[in-house]
Amino acid sequence: MLHKLGRNDKCWCGSGKKYKYCHEGFDEKLRELELEGHIVPSRKLIKTPKDIAGIKESAKINIACLDEVGKQIHAGMSTQEIDDIVYKVTTEMGGIPAPLNYEGFPKSVCTSINDVVCHGIPSDDEILEEGDIINVDCSTILNGYFSDSSRMFLVGDVQDDWVKLVNDTKKAIEIGLEQVKPWHFLGDMGNAINQFAMSQGYSVVREIGGHGIGKEFHEDPFVSYVSQPGTEMVMAPGLCFTIEPMINLGKADVVVDEDDDWTVYTEDGSPSAQWEVQLVVTEDGYELLSW
Ligand code: MF3
Ligand code: CO
Repeated sequence: MLHKLGRNDKCWCGSGKKYKYCHEGFDEKLRELELEGHIVPSRKLIKTPKDIAGIKESAKINIACLDEVGKQIHAGMSTQEIDDIVYKVTTEMGGIPAPLNYEGFPKSVCTSINDVVCHGIPSDDEILEEGDIINVDCSTILNGYFSDSSRMFLVGDVQDDWVKLVNDTKKAIEIGLEQVKPWHFLGDMGNAINQFAMSQGYSVVREIGGHGIGKEFHEDPFVSYVSQPGTEMVMAPGLCFTIEPMINLGKADVVVDEDDDWTVYTEDGSPSAQWEVQLVVTEDGYELLSW
């Protein structure tokens, strides 16, 4: 495929430039890395400037939802009320909540309290209590472009070790981001997160991770945090993915609710925290798209 595009033809990325002045060197570099046995992104995973602009517009809604939840969240509120906020803000800004009806998910946002690791389903019957920690995971579609980010919120006064877990999980993302450099490996990033989490006595969930995103909700690659440096997909410029580690105060094992088939709990009942950012790899590092 690569050979068929002439060097003087227009580049596949839509820049309008000649291939030889645009992605030719990029393709050669990827091909070399592939021959060395590395996992490289397919062309459809590489976002063009137009794609990135579209994702940023989508992310404005995504960020606005979480900002609004942050303003309104309080003890005594139901998680359904959080869902209502996300639905209202998203649709008023012209977007679609990505979780709604996604593989049968019944609500517009995931709300995961305390020992719920992720994919908690908002409900009228679930009331936030003083001392809870909650992850609100918001995903948005605008003009076919997906954005996805999540934040933790503390409900009133929270016990110290849980506050530390929440803050350290955010710090883990910052430590992971330091490893996001073009032509380096996703495993460099994942390993940095896992090493930090373990150094604080936590464990990182293995089965669920981040993902490529942009034109679909969940694209390749799967973004693990229990990975080795120099392994996993090459972070080529234009690759867009989320970093969203789930870090447990206790053991790493998780179980899925048998009744709703969505809610993921820590097996040992210990609390779990998660933040999520979405980024694109650039020529000199990365750009955050949603957070
Ligand atoms: N927002 C989640 C993520 O970070 C995905 C949730 S899928 C849903 O990937 F259906 F539960 F919304
Ligand atoms: Co995500």
